[in-house]
Amino acid sequence: MGSLYVFDHPLIQHKLTYIRDKSTGTKEFRELVDEVAMLMAYEITRDLPLQEVEVETPVTRCKAKMIAGKKLGLVPILRAGIGMVDGVLKLIPAAKVGHVGLYRDPETLEPVEYYVKLPSDIEERDFIVIDPMLATGGSAVAAITALKNRGARNMKLMCLIAAPEGIQKVQEVHPDVDIFVAAVDEMLNDHGYIVPGLGDAGDRLFGTK
Ligand code: PRP
Ligand code: URA
Repeated sequence: MGSLYVFDHPLIQHKLTYIRDKSTGTKEFRELVDEVAMLMAYEITRDLPLQEVEVETPVTRCKAKMIAGKKLGLVPILRAGIGMVDGVLKLIPAAKVGHVGLYRDPETLEPVEYYVKLPSDIEERDFIVIDPMLATGGSAVAAITALKNRGARNMKLMCLIAAPEGIQKVQEVHPDVDIFVAAVDEMLNDHGYIVPGLGDAGDRLFGTK
């Protein structure tokens, strides 16, 4: 079964509280999501392999470390995943970005796929699938399946807030995928919204309703 990592760093938790707050407006919400995504990217890249290199400092030559040329890909789930991409790219600027378009049918809560565009060298890359909300888990499971069907092998899932139901579903269907979140909330309500959550992530990011 994939591992679950909950980032309890005080800066992440502090900013997440403002993100949850319904009085936080679109501009501030977007900025905060961007900042938290960057902080989460710092934690999620902890296991990147390093290689030894030589560098000439103003004083002498020495051995030092650099990331060992790992090829990474980011895959935001449209729409709300877009709000986290730039924050991650600030720390991993060389990552390629693919997109998976899914929306949740409001009646069935089942994900409906409408767009997939991924880097061409998909088999050589490790991917981070990005979505602020892991609710029923249907969208994340479908996005990961879409990547696997096209040849992706190594993936992590990064979300701001997860419901226990969504975590369980991803772990059942994709036991090879580790999940990284800023918070695990209590439950889903009758409309499949995370409680307490932050509301509709796409609407809050883009000012729609
Ligand atoms: C939201 C969210 C996730 C999905 C999570 O997207 O961004 O993709 O719901 O729910 P699930 O875990 O139950 O599948 P939504 O379907 O509202 O689409 P949008 O991002 O286009 O608004
Ligand atoms: N999608 C959202 O945007 N919010 C939720 O709480 C659940 C799914």
